[in-house]
Amino acid sequence: MSLDVAYAQELAAHDTEIEDINAEAFGPGRFARAAYKIREGGPHRRDLSFVGLVDGKVVASVRMTPIAAGGATALLLGPLAVRPAYKNLGIGRKLVAIALDAARKDGWSLVILVGDAPYYAPLGFDIVVPRGQVTMPRPVEPARLLAAELAEGALEQFRGEVLHAGLATGCGEAVRDVA
Ligand SMILES: CC(C)(COP(=O)(O)OP(=O)(O)OC[C@H]1O[C@@H](n2cnc3c(N)ncnc32)[C@H](O)[C@@H]1OP(=O)(O)O)[C@@H](O)C(=O)NCCC(=O)NCCS
Repeated sequence: MSLDVAYAQELAAHDTEIEDINAEAFGPGRFARAAYKIREGGPHRRDLSFVGLVDGKVVASVRMTPIAAGGATALLLGPLAVRPAYKNLGIGRKLVAIALDAARKDGWSLVILVGDAPYYAPLGFDIVVPRGQVTMPRPVEPARLLAAELAEGALEQFRGEVLHAGLATGCGEAVRDVA
């Protein structure tokens, strides 16, 4: 099947469609996920987040959120979701590649995600974060915590409790305690 997919930076106008896609892909269980909890801590980087569009409609989305641990920062990739009718056409892979490329150009050295290694390892997420190196706000299967180093050795610096980057500075502790 040949399909004309346009890839674009995410806009606020895409929010409702993206929410629908994520609800369809992950169901209500998405709210209980560790990555969701981190993303609740603050906004994602819309300029590093991308959509796949077919005939002007959003059919796929990937978001990137700034996170911090042990004084180092990184991006958290996700959610990544593709409308069921558009799966297995390479759209997911392409969105990950675009997001990683944008992160690199924006000067980031590390991108983390929680996901399936068989899918993500060939896309650059070829490191399993060593067990115990970071603490997520909710339990995560260690084999699913994956990293893509955009600068060699970047993961080494990323240690301890993982928070939204906006909570890791100044008054963040107080904000987190009441969350
Ligand atoms: C996972 C998802 C994003 C993949 O997007 P996609 O556009 O359908 O995938 P692509 O076309 O880029 O890649 C398809 C390939 O990935 C494989 N694949 C898809 N999901 C996979 C998974 N969880 N683990 C391993 N391989 C997977 C497919 O079997 C296919 O393999 P092939 O090329 O050998 O046939 C999409 O299926 C989706 O939205 N799933 C529901 C939400 C989800 O699970 N998101 C990931 C969260 S970590």
